[in-house]
Amino acid sequence: MTGQENGLSREMIGQMIDLAVEMMQRAYAPYSHFTVGAALLTKAGKLYGGCNVENAAYSPGSCAERTAICKAVSEGEREFRAIAIVGGREAVMDGYCPPCGVCRQVMREFCDPESFRVILATGREEYKIMTLQELLPESFGPDNL
Ligand code: THU
Repeated sequence: MTGQENGLSREMIGQMIDLAVEMMQRAYAPYSHFTVGAALLTKAGKLYGGCNVENAAYSPGSCAERTAICKAVSEGEREFRAIAIVGGREAVMDGYCPPCGVCRQVMREFCDPESFRVILATGREEYKIMTLQELLPESFGPDNL
């Protein structure tokens, strides 16, 4: 443990990455061929998965992270601890898939920037952990309104 895990066990991180990889296989990405999977962990310990879902009109497409967050919120969840993300062209995980700016902002709506962890993975044993604060410094959130 380096501290960045913030209480997340190796086993939990592994489970999250496994679910993210499983979700990536369900990605609907016929236009970009870039498939992404995410696994979102609630504070109560439940996992919600998501994949990217593209659209012929392009802009209605959703990223994997937002799919997972919308699934969880629509089930009544609003408190989250961490999200694992994997992705790559044709599901080849040859590099980290950092969340896009829109997804970072959507995380900011529900997650505390200092404690929420974003796990960027290329495999079960290969990952790095960042805080939302590192990914979205000086952010605008619900507390600004
Ligand atoms: N994508 C995600 O699902 N998450 C990200 O964080 C980055 C991008 C998706 C959107 C689109 O379907 C494809 O990857 C290429 O941008």
